[in-house]
Amino acid sequence: MRPPEQIETARLILRKPRMSDAPAVFEGWAKHPEVTRFLTWRPHKNVLETEALLKRSVDAWDEGANFRYLMEIKESGLLAGMLELRMETAKISFGYTGAYAQWGKGYMTEAVRAAIEWAFQQPNIYRVYATTDVENAPSRRVMEKAGMQREGILRKDSTHPNISPEPRDCYIYAIIR
Ligand SMILES: CC(C)(COP(=O)(O)OP(=O)(O)OC[C@H]1O[C@@H](n2cnc3c(N)ncnc32)[C@H](O)[C@@H]1OP(=O)(O)O)[C@@H](O)C(=O)NCCC(=O)NCCS
Repeated sequence: MRPPEQIETARLILRKPRMSDAPAVFEGWAKHPEVTRFLTWRPHKNVLETEALLKRSVDAWDEGANFRYLMEIKESGLLAGMLELRMETAKISFGYTGAYAQWGKGYMTEAVRAAIEWAFQQPNIYRVYATTDVENAPSRRVMEKAGMQREGILRKDSTHPNISPEPRDCYIYAIIR
C-alpha cells in the first residue's frame, strides 16, 4: 500500500522530497542541536549529509515501505518540517521533525491528524502509532492533540545519541480504528 504523493491540509502541502530541498532542510532543522536532541541521528555537519538523507528518502519512496513527506507551508512556501510514514501489516507508524523556526504553530499536529485521517480511510489499517523519548514533552503533546493514547513505556527502546550512548525509555502512543 502506498500513500498519496501529496496530502493537503488547511495550511500545508505534504509532498515527496526533492533533492533541491536539501539547503532548506539543512538550515531549517537538520543542522540544529535543539531539533535533533531526542532523535536517533546527530545534527548534520554540512548539506552533503542532508542530501544523503533526501536521497535515502526518495529511494525509500521508490522501494515502497517508508514514505517521508516534507511539509510545505502554503502561504509562504517555507518548510515546516518532515513526517515519515512507515507501512506495516494492518498498521502504520510514523516519525517527525519540525523546522525550528516553525515550532509551536500547530503545524506538526495538523500533519499528523491528516496522516491519521488518510490511514483510517484505508480499510486494512487498524492502528497508527509512534514512540517518543520520555522527556520529549512537545512530541507527547503533538500526539495527545492528534487524539492518540499513551499505551505504555518501552524500556531502553531507542538510542538517542545526542543525549546518551545508552538506549532510552520511550512512550508508545497509538490511535486505533
Ligand atoms: C515535536 C515537534 C515536531 C512539534 O512540532 P510543532 O509544529 O511545534 O508542534 P505543534 O505546534 O503542533 O505542537 C507542539 C505542542 O508542544 C507544546 N510544547 C512545546 N514545548 C513544550 C514543553 N517544553 N513542555 C510541554 N509542552 C510543550 C506546545 O505548546 C504545543 O502544544 P499546545 O498547542 O497545546 O500549546 C517539534 O517540537 C520538533 O521538531 N521537535 C524536535 C524533533 C523531535 O523531537 N521529533 C519527535 C521525535 S519522537
